[in-house]
Amino acid sequence: MSEPVTLSFARLTAAPKGVLIVLTDESLAFGTQTQKVLKGADAALTRAFDAERFKGKAWSTVDLLAPAGLDAPRLVVISVGKAGDLKASDFLKLGGLIAGKIPASAREASVLLDLPGTKIAAEAAADVALGIRLRSYSFDRYKTKKKDENERAGLAVTLLVSDEAGSKKAAIARDAVGDGVLFARDLVNEPANVLDPPEFARRAEEHLSAVGVEVEVLDDEALSRAGLRALLGVGQGSIKESRVVVMRWNGGPKDEAPVAFIGKGVTFDTGGISIKPAAGMEDMKGDMGGAACVTGLLYALAARKAKVNAVGLIGLVENMPDGAAQRPGDIVTSLSGQTIEIINTDAEGRLVLCDVLWYAKERFKPKFMIDLATLTGAILVALGSEYAGLFSNDDALSERLAKAGQETGERVWRLPLGPEYDKLIDSKFADMKNTGGRNAGSITAAQFLQRFVEKTPWAHLDVAGTAMSSPASDINKSWGSGWGVRLLDQLVKDNYEG
Ligand code: BES
Ligand code: MN
Ligand code: ZN
Repeated sequence: MSEPVTLSFARLTAAPKGVLIVLTDESLAFGTQTQKVLKGADAALTRAFDAERFKGKAWSTVDLLAPAGLDAPRLVVISVGKAGDLKASDFLKLGGLIAGKIPASAREASVLLDLPGTKIAAEAAADVALGIRLRSYSFDRYKTKKKDENERAGLAVTLLVSDEAGSKKAAIARDAVGDGVLFARDLVNEPANVLDPPEFARRAEEHLSAVGVEVEVLDDEALSRAGLRALLGVGQGSIKESRVVVMRWNGGPKDEAPVAFIGKGVTFDTGGISIKPAAGMEDMKGDMGGAACVTGLLYALAARKAKVNAVGLIGLVENMPDGAAQRPGDIVTSLSGQTIEIINTDAEGRLVLCDVLWYAKERFKPKFMIDLATLTGAILVALGSEYAGLFSNDDALSERLAKAGQETGERVWRLPLGPEYDKLIDSKFADMKNTGGRNAGSITAAQFLQRFVEKTPWAHLDVAGTAMSSPASDINKSWGSGWGVRLLDQLVKDNYEG
């Protein structure tokens, strides 16, 4: 929750204050302005580099405390490796590294965004600022005893940049996206006794209507009337009501079909009657990571006034095993009319999504649908936390997602779909069953979803490995990652605005 860092931009030639952070490259060269600032500290630097055997390898750093010849209380040198090769995601990572090098005791820091032989563009400077923000986030709402002496009381970071006005301008959109990411992280980190489906819906409504998103909340009764029985079946074993939230941002031409984002929002997944083992079950408070991303994304698009019509739909349920819970062997009729035999009540995400996908398709006739879901443990086995699994019926959409993934560092890896896999979810008693057996678990889950999208261009992102980040990354020290907000914002920006 707490975000104790305030960021600002100043001219490259402004006087640095507090902890001084400078950049170098693999040849240990400094930019012209950095050379000026470091004048007098040459001897100290040479000794420190020797002592650390610092060779300028990418992302390696050297720290000097009270460096002789400088006023700064601390000097941090960070190497970016090959200065010419840096992409947007590298600048984000750089921001994360910078934030990580500022000690908790510091109140002020200055970063000289200056490299030899290349100029750091305004967009890149704004990416560094975003990286600092994302890394500085922590979720400590429930820590009541933390006031140790070094606890950060607020830190002001100034980025010294060659294009001050341009950087400030570029930072406006980054701030909107950053707000969306941090909102998503808060939702994922929040425990399930606090964030149940009604509370998730309430927060979405509160935050998103404030930036101009139209928010509509469908409660149990509305969902029942509309016929989302597959979704409701998952929630029926919980004392918490289910919700679907429809979020609409109309920033594009009137009457132009929207792009649609759909999120799995299981606020807690016990597995239901097919109950999960105890070890690690606490992580299932994050089983709404897809919904958190969609909510954060709609926030970001609205806050930066994206020129696009976008809808976000999230299916919010709690999967619990009480006397009213759904059983293995039950058969439910989905909104589409197709019937589903429940084999395993722990394969609940697809039951939620199939109704929300169908609802989105029928109601909005979107240009495409992208769903995000912490859908299968199998995707963790396949890809770990480095890539999300991508499944799609549309090559162009897949390529656009892959490109946005490279740009943002939120990468996706496409896996196959096909009739041989689809066969695995045929059922003896109904149109399909909700699991396809042990093998190819992530693929059969995607096959299931595909039965509910018809001809709409569609992509499914299995984010079970990326929505919660452990191990911690350079730009996230908390647990919930907000993964996908930056990816999908980039996708929209690259392809669907104006
Ligand atoms: N929410 C889980 C998937 C998950 C696992 C997310 C680990 C994050 C981390 C999902 O609902 C689930 O339980 N899937 C089952 C499907 C199986 C019963 C076919 C799984 O992956 O084991
Ligand atoms: Mn489950
Ligand atoms: Zn689940």
